[in-house]
Amino acid sequence: MPDVVVIGAGLIGLATAWRLASDGVQVAVCDPTPGAQTSNVAAGMLAPVTEVEFGEDDLLALNLASVKAWPAFAGELEELTGQAAGLHQTGTLSVAYDVDDMSVLRRVADYQSRLGLEVEVLSGRDARRREPMLATGVSGGVWVPGDHSVDNRQAVATLLRAVELSGVELIRRRVTRVITSGATAVGVQLDNGDTVHAGQIIAAAGPWTSQLGGIPEELRPPVRPVKGEVLRLRVPEAYRPALHHTVRATARGFSVYLVPRPGGELVVGATSTELGYDTRVLAGGVFALLRDARTVLPVTDELELVESIAGLRPATPDNAPVLGPSGLDRLLWATGHYRNGVLLTPVTAQVLAETVRTGTLPDLGKPFLAARFGH
Ligand code: GLY
Repeated sequence: MPDVVVIGAGLIGLATAWRLASDGVQVAVCDPTPGAQTSNVAAGMLAPVTEVEFGEDDLLALNLASVKAWPAFAGELEELTGQAAGLHQTGTLSVAYDVDDMSVLRRVADYQSRLGLEVEVLSGRDARRREPMLATGVSGGVWVPGDHSVDNRQAVATLLRAVELSGVELIRRRVTRVITSGATAVGVQLDNGDTVHAGQIIAAAGPWTSQLGGIPEELRPPVRPVKGEVLRLRVPEAYRPALHHTVRATARGFSVYLVPRPGGELVVGATSTELGYDTRVLAGGVFALLRDARTVLPVTDELELVESIAGLRPATPDNAPVLGPSGLDRLLWATGHYRNGVLLTPVTAQVLAETVRTGTLPDLGKPFLAARFGH
């Protein structure tokens, strides 16, 4: 019997399992398709500054702690596995297409500055100095040196290797329900009817967490799926690198981001729609992403469209994750990371591992208790 069962082998579940196993804990992770859902679709931006929203101060503190934790986390993973963890510390350039877009960008930059975040407002010409392939019509930008990116697919592959090397048992099955004894979680039931008992359960099933059986209705975290369509383009040798940094653009009021990978891949994202668990890629989503990408980066027309894919962000009513105690003894949440799952991977794993080790949620995790939703 393992000490801990983790439900879900996305980045959050895998990293948490790895951290616990490094502490000597016996861990099993259950997932029918490890790493193949939201963590596979994401673009992998580490964007605490460029994705900051008015009034989300606790989330900003957690996001900043995690962007700071990424280099050591990646270094440890790489040392253990000999594989790249996919971290690229290149900074991010936000750009505005027309003057109205620039006034929005300026307002956000003022807010970021007031929060003490490092941002530098640039003219259109200075933005193009940093990224020469940007459209000549780009009216200005904001340079954000602290926002980076991770090749999420590389991170998943490396974490899968790390959990394997650390002795974590990977059970390729869907968990249908949490097994309880009174008000205590004691194990999970799998879709083939088997059960796995453990001293502690961690639910890291992203947008599927709220569908887990066996949990009283009033304790289910309010996590819902928010669909995002993402494109992967290939930059031909002749145009490489099309971009040096992550570029986020506001183009005629629409938002798009372009995340370059060293191998010539350019990830373009993302739409945001509330359609339940629907992961069909719609023509309108692809159209909108390409329309906005080519407005700011005209060479987009010359790139090969390699993949269009949709994933489900695990969203909560306040856009922040749900971490720690669930209201059932021995069941912990590690879910609801919405737009920040890749970013929040190291800090979530650290917070959950500490909670298991000490029995207490560390201070950093306290604003993210499910109890804030009246649970
Ligand atoms: N963080 C990017 C997204 O959710 O689209």
